[in-house]
Amino acid sequence: METIQVKAERPYEIHIGRGILSSCARLLLQHARAEGGGERKVFVVTDRNVGVRCPYLHTLIETLEKEGLSVSQAVLRAGERTKSFKSLSRLIGMMTKEGLGRDDILIGLGGGVIGDLAGFAASVYMRGLSHVLLPTTLLAQVDSSIGGKTGINTREGKNLVGSFRSPLFVLIDIDTLSTLEDRQWLCGLAEIVKCGLVGDRELFETAQTLFFDTRDAPPVGGRECRLRLEKDQGALYSLISGAIRMKRSIVARDEKEQGVRRLLNFGHTFGHAIENLLGYGRLLHGEAVILGMRMATELSAALGLLPEKERVRIALFLARLSIPRPGRIKATRIFEQMQKDKKKKDGRVHYVLLAKTGEGTIRSDPDARTVVSCIEKVLDAL
Ligand code: NAD
Ligand code: GLY
Repeated sequence: METIQVKAERPYEIHIGRGILSSCARLLLQHARAEGGGERKVFVVTDRNVGVRCPYLHTLIETLEKEGLSVSQAVLRAGERTKSFKSLSRLIGMMTKEGLGRDDILIGLGGGVIGDLAGFAASVYMRGLSHVLLPTTLLAQVDSSIGGKTGINTREGKNLVGSFRSPLFVLIDIDTLSTLEDRQWLCGLAEIVKCGLVGDRELFETAQTLFFDTRDAPPVGGRECRLRLEKDQGALYSLISGAIRMKRSIVARDEKEQGVRRLLNFGHTFGHAIENLLGYGRLLHGEAVILGMRMATELSAALGLLPEKERVRIALFLARLSIPRPGRIKATRIFEQMQKDKKKKDGRVHYVLLAKTGEGTIRSDPDARTVVSCIEKVLDAL
């Protein structure tokens, strides 16, 4: 098991390994002893896919109980709609009924939806109790479980209510990915590639070498992505660990997203606009981010930031990540939608762009025509 330290306002550790879900009990007891002992109740929140269709909840509860911990659970509906006030209120109701107090522990077992909800519930329940994250999607393992952002959606938008809250620890069992649907693998890969492009050239090149060893390599959809990563467990491990290390170094410098952390939104401003216009669910988030990264790469070159040779290399790689056809969308509508981005600063959209492979940069001044023509270029190539 590898352990990575995260320097944050409340520092914590990320443990990565295979078949390590059952180590959760031991780690919890270590923390309890370090904090002066005493009985702890544990409450596990998960969703139906993870908790009912997969063996993880069962394994976890069994090992926690074996260590003498008192455990209760909530199994919620799977999907983005679970990141809501309604689920939060239900979860808090169940935690109260079980008599959970401030010294007890909430565990979020699942993807980013469960992690974000559990983190937020932990930050507001009795003004804060400790939580542990056991991420089970590739996206959650490399992105959402790292960095302390928690949140729920409202009718008006995604992640409009939330907090920054460090977990007690994060435990990443790579074996839990074995049950993940194909498309979710590509979504996780998209976030890994994003980390590489804005901050770690070597990470990008590891992904590039793995998937495109020849110029005429075939497109990589969710299935090919899963098969390739399952076959090369060493590469899977180094991609996960590399993305986590890159994100934790950004978080250590800018936990509350006042500056450099905004680089992690590479491809997301375009991607969110596309998701919003298509209606959530048509493209998965990571798939929209792939399109968004292609547009941002074109814009980086059009503004003279990214050398042409690098643009070609990155564009070729991203174009081979094969996503479902999004249907007809107009470039101008994507541009208009981006003007509503909630991460606007001083009334302007801030574009995360590339200065070179492995180095992101932020600009707020590209003119509308240049942005629209870069969006069009990518849409025309689909
Ligand atoms: P998700 O939690 O909805 O999981 C995707 C699907 O996979 C769900 O149907 C889930 O039930 C299923 N699943 C999870 N683990 C599984 C497993 N091991 N085997 C089989 N099925 C499994 O979505 P996600 O992609 O993990 O996360 C997306 C969410 O994360 C969004 O709400 C997004 O806003 C949030 N997010 C948060 C941050 C952050 O910093 N907090 C960063 C990125 C994304
Ligand atoms: N996913 C972007 C961030 O955590 O800041």
